Amino acid sequence: MKKVSIIYWSCGGSVEMLANMIADGAEEAGAKVTIKHVADATVVDVIEADSVAFGSPAMDEDNIEKLEMQPFLESLKDLPINNKKCILFGSHGWTDDKFMKLWANKMKSYGFDCIEELTVKEFATKENLENAQLLGRKLAK
Ligand SMILES: Cc1cc2nc3c(=O)[nH]c(=O)nc-3n(C[C@H](O)[C@H](O)[C@H](O)COP(=O)(O)O)c2cc1C
Repeated sequence: MKKVSIIYWSCGGSVEMLANMIADGAEEAGAKVTIKHVADATVVDVIEADSVAFGSPAMDEDNIEKLEMQPFLESLKDLPINNKKCILFGSHGWTDDKFMKLWANKMKSYGFDCIEELTVKEFATKENLENAQLLGRKLAK
């Protein structure tokens, strides 16, 4: 059974909704899923997982959330990530999805194999949620 960890930051619930759908898809595909707000996550959740999904909104222009998510991810950069499969997801308000591209590059530099990204504008549409569920299935493979 594959172990999938889903770690996200969300304040208004948009990113959390995507996280829950990714978890749904991964569980449906038979994975053992750990889903946590980043405030409750530890590096062990990442190290012990076969694949990981990270979620954040765009904040302060083209950044991910800086007080909890960014420091958590930075704490991973000297660990043996060994090309671990990862998916990035998030939402944005008034800027575009540039934050996601910058974020994906950073995660690659930390040693992750970023296989997919999902960005939605504010709250996810039905189609966005279906895509999130598909991503969960991919993580479980
Ligand atoms: C303090 C703050 C800063 C934000 N900065 C940006 C931004 O620079 N660009 C953008 O597109 N959206 C920005 N947003 C909007 C969020 O990315 C957007 O509302 C997102 O859907 C929130 O996700 P959540 O509901 O999971 O918390 C900001 C929101 C907050 C509260």
